[in-house]
Amino acid sequence: MYYSVPRGTKDILPEEALLWQELEQTCRDIFRLSNYLEIRTPIFESTELFARSIGKTTDIVSKEMYEFKDRKGRSLTLRPEETAPVVRAGLEHSLIRPDQVTKLYYIGPMFRYERPQAGRQRQFHQAGVEVFGSADPLIDVEVILLNRQLFSALRLKGLSVNINSVGCKKCRPEFRKQLKDHFKYNINKMCADCQNRLEHNPLRILDCKEAKCQKYIELAPASVDTLCDECKGHFGAVIKQLDYHQVKFVVNKRLVRGLDYYTKTSFEIISSNLGAQNAVSGGGRYDDLVAELGGKPTPAVGFAIGLERLIEVMKKGTRDEGRGTQLDLFIATLGDKARELGFDLLIKARQKGRSADMDYLGKALKTQLKLADKLGAKQVLILGEDELNKGYGILKDMKTSKQTEVRIDSLEEVV
Ligand code: HAM
Repeated sequence: MYYSVPRGTKDILPEEALLWQELEQTCRDIFRLSNYLEIRTPIFESTELFARSIGKTTDIVSKEMYEFKDRKGRSLTLRPEETAPVVRAGLEHSLIRPDQVTKLYYIGPMFRYERPQAGRQRQFHQAGVEVFGSADPLIDVEVILLNRQLFSALRLKGLSVNINSVGCKKCRPEFRKQLKDHFKYNINKMCADCQNRLEHNPLRILDCKEAKCQKYIELAPASVDTLCDECKGHFGAVIKQLDYHQVKFVVNKRLVRGLDYYTKTSFEIISSNLGAQNAVSGGGRYDDLVAELGGKPTPAVGFAIGLERLIEVMKKGTRDEGRGTQLDLFIATLGDKARELGFDLLIKARQKGRSADMDYLGKALKTQLKLADKLGAKQVLILGEDELNKGYGILKDMKTSKQTEVRIDSLEEVV
C-alpha cells in the first residue's frame, strides 16, 4: 500500500515542473526589470500577525488557518498569504521607510484550509510584489501593468482586469453606515456569519458565499459611490492611466477582496480559460497596514498571482506557438565504442552550456530516436557502428529532418 498526498495538496511531477520553472523564471525576470528585489520569509509566523492584518472576521483567519502550537505553547500559523509577513520582515529589518520607495517580490507556497476543488488547494503557490512608500496612483498602475507584462511574456491570452476602489479611513465610516442601514432589515434571513458581521465588520458581508445572502448583497450600496474626494481623485487617476496604457479592464463595484487590509484600489485579474476559481491574481492598496503592524504610516500596494491557476492556463494550450524545446541535443549510439564516444561528446556539449542527454538503457537505435523526439530534442547526433568505422557520425536536425555527415575529428565542434 502506498501513502497518498494530503487532501488539497499535490505533487508537481517532472513534466509540469518544467512549466513551473519557466513561470518562476519569467516572474523573476519581469519583476527585476521594474527594480523589484526578492524577499524570502519563513513558512510560519505568529498567528497574531495574520489575525491583525488580514482581519479576525475574514474567512481566511476565522476558518482557513493552519494554526498550531509549538512545544513552548506559542501559537504559530502556516502563512495563508505573504503581504503581512513582508510587512513584518520589512519593518523588522528597516527595509520599509515612509520617505523611500521599497519594491519587493516573493515566490513560494501558501496554506489555507479551504474545501479543495479545481483551482483551489490547501497548499498553493503565489508570486507577488509589494511596494512601500508611495501613494502615487502610478504605482497602482505599475503593479497592474506588471501582471500584463508577465502574461504577455508567458504568451497567455484571455485575461482581463476587474478593478474597484474600497475607500479609506475617511470614507469608510460612511460606507459602513450605509451597509448597516441596508442589511439591518433582512439580517434575520441571512446566515449566522453575516449576522455576526453586521455588528463587527459589515464590509465582510459583501464577501459572503452563502446562497441565501446573495440577493441582499446584490442590492447593497457600493463603495465607489461613497468615496471621499481624495479616494475619488486617486481612483480616477488610476483608471485614466489604465485607459492610456490600453489595459482591458472593467470597474466592478461588487469586487470585494477576502482580506481586510485594503484601501482605495483593489483589483483581480480574471482568466476566461478557467472555471469558477477564475481569479489568477489579486491585489490592491493597503495604506494603513504598515502603521497597523507597528511602523510609521507608509502607503503600500501589491498583488499576488496564484501560480497553480496560471499553470492551468498555460497547460490549456491557449498560448501562442513558440514554446522552447526542452533539449538541445540527443546523442544516439550503437555499440560500445560509439557509446563511449557519445558519452564523451555529451559531457563536452553540456560544458558548452547545451542541454543534452543520451540513452542509458541500451535501447535499439530506433527506440533512441523516438525518445529524442519525445524529449523535444532540436538535434540528434547518431553514432552508428558502420558510420564510425567509416570515420563519421550523422547530425540530424529534428525540425527539418536534414541529415549531415560529420567527420569524427569535427564532432566535438558540432555538439
Ligand atoms: P488573494 O486574493 O487571497 O490575495 O490571493 C491571490 C491569488 O492567490 C488569488 O487570486 C488566487 O489566484 C490564488 N489563491 C488564493 N487562494 C488559493 C487557493 N486556495 N488555491 C489556489 N490558489 C489560490 C492575497 O493573498 C494578497 N496577499 C494579495 C496582495 C498582495 N495584496 C496586496 N499585496
